[in-house]
Amino acid sequence: MSGTPEGLPEPAEKARVVRGMFDRISNRYDLVNRVMTFGMDVGWRRRAVAELRLPGDALVADLACGTGDLCEELLDDGYRAVGFDFSHGMLRNARTAAQVVEADVLRLPLADGGVDGATCGFAMRNVTDLAALFAETARVLRPRGRAAFLETSEPDGRVLRAGHALYFRRIVPLIGGALSD
Ligand SMILES: C[S@@+](CC[C@H](N)C(=O)[O-])C[C@H]1O[C@@H](n2cnc3c(N)ncnc32)[C@H](O)[C@@H]1O
Repeated sequence: MSGTPEGLPEPAEKARVVRGMFDRISNRYDLVNRVMTFGMDVGWRRRAVAELRLPGDALVADLACGTGDLCEELLDDGYRAVGFDFSHGMLRNARTAAQVVEADVLRLPLADGGVDGATCGFAMRNVTDLAALFAETARVLRPRGRAAFLETSEPDGRVLRAGHALYFRRIVPLIGGALSD
């Protein structure tokens, strides 16, 4: 793999690797997610959608929608939803009544101000340019539109942080390896 002087992959290479990985694990993604988070990911998505606080029939773009769990939460809350993801495999395994579109979230096929809201779940770590993701989200949101970004973070407190690091660095890779790739 080519890379930057800091040893990180070039953006185009990272995007290719990320897309390939999600294509490969797409049929086990939901299972791995539920097991790794002890099913808590469901409630986290629900809370992210609740934070939107938009009018009932608002149109919401779910960025990096994967298999469509956030799209389903959006529909359950009465929103109109459309999902975007660049992994063909993830979209093929999507289980949602929302329309899903194969697209790079850094170049969305949406007009300026074309949506009322946006969601993005567990994908901020995957994109090659976070500032570009926020800029593109701002471009497609109408004035006073709202966005909810959901991501894992580190807990406060030394003991909790140590347990969290142990779980995510040692145990999660084992679960991921055993169940998928
Ligand atoms: C961890 S999954 C999250 C899926 C879903 N949002 C969820 O809540 O389960 C990350 C997703 O981001 C997608 N992704 C990463 N970078 C992307 C990009 N630049 N454009 C579109 N999708 C992207 C991957 O294909 C993958 O489906």
